[in-house]
Amino acid sequence: MRSLLTKRVKAIPPSGLRRFFDIAATMDDVISLGIGEPDFTTPEHISQAGIDSIKAGKTSYTSNSGLSELREAIAGYLKTRHQVDYNPENEILVSVGVSEGMHLTMQTIVDIGDEVIIPQPSFLSYPAEVTLAGGVPVPIKTVVENNFQVTASEIEAVITPKSKVLLIGYPCNPTGAILKRKTLEEIAEVVIKHDLIVISDEIYEQLTYGAEHVCVASLPGMRERTILLNGFSKAYAMTGWRLGYAAAPVEYVASMRKIHQYTIMSAPTMSQYAALRAIQAGADDVESMRQEYDRRRRLIVDGFNELGLDCFEPLGAFYAFPSVAKTGMSDLDFCETLLEEEKIATIPGRYFGAGGEGYIRCSYCTSYEKIEIVLERMHNFLQRHG
Ligand SMILES: Cc1ncc(COP(=O)(O)O)c(C=O)c1O
Repeated sequence: MRSLLTKRVKAIPPSGLRRFFDIAATMDDVISLGIGEPDFTTPEHISQAGIDSIKAGKTSYTSNSGLSELREAIAGYLKTRHQVDYNPENEILVSVGVSEGMHLTMQTIVDIGDEVIIPQPSFLSYPAEVTLAGGVPVPIKTVVENNFQVTASEIEAVITPKSKVLLIGYPCNPTGAILKRKTLEEIAEVVIKHDLIVISDEIYEQLTYGAEHVCVASLPGMRERTILLNGFSKAYAMTGWRLGYAAAPVEYVASMRKIHQYTIMSAPTMSQYAALRAIQAGADDVESMRQEYDRRRRLIVDGFNELGLDCFEPLGAFYAFPSVAKTGMSDLDFCETLLEEEKIATIPGRYFGAGGEGYIRCSYCTSYEKIEIVLERMHNFLQRHG
């Protein structure tokens, strides 16, 4: 039978991460630093709000845009936290995670052949989503010497008449880098000069460690040319609830809503009630989880550096991104051998695109005690391979 698959879907590679998870799943006693999701369960009162909504019979669709109370709460949050005004009526769309928000955004603004500039290493979905929309991902390699920040001049250097979008995700998965205000201001100038639009994935914005997160849309002239994506998965430990949102000028939100309406209808209702509770009363939970991530971050980053694996100081998200170059092994060999010999699952940096080779991503979404064991096992490993 002839292959009926679209060229689009054939053009995207299967996720490299899966292979590692599949191998790890067949082994006993593996400590996984591979997974990018909180090891905490959703705070009880937030789960309870979801359960209560079901018990109260709130089990039908909501408005396509999402519950109006939730959109109002999101608008209030963005105003208070980032000093950006969005009209909850028509500038906020509740989505099935940032994942759906990203998909809708791409389908809304990327035409065939449009170039989307993506600083890398970055989250795996970004280039895949661009390709699925018919666009062309244009990676920019970021480097540790510049704290894995992309610069305005690096962006300007890749701009062509086909450039349309700058897609950024800071705090960054996998490096843990943030963009400093000054860097972002310079980037904003280039974006405005070349009439680009920014997609800003700020899912880790609440998880920073002694560093300021600057919301792209809060910079002068940027609100009108930014699609801001955020969600509840990481900060509130709500990955399974599948809830996020997009905030953008009305023209974009209206178009994204059309696709959302035809493909999803509305984000899960019980999750929206849980998210409402999270945004209204979850700040203390976020703070206590953030403090625990910070404690683990110190342990793992200092531990790697002491073992001789040069580790960049991550200021956000929950990943460490040490270099394994000194061992003489490639990131791929390092991860495979480490898994085989010491039963520690990590992810080769190359899977995150340009600039990732020679690094490994280690999520610290695992207990402090397990990270201590990881460091011991790594020590043994490096004795043999260092
Ligand atoms: C940078 C980044 N964006 C988006 C997502 C997906 O988030 P959500 O659960 O809201 O779909 C992830 C999850 O790993 C992520 O790391």
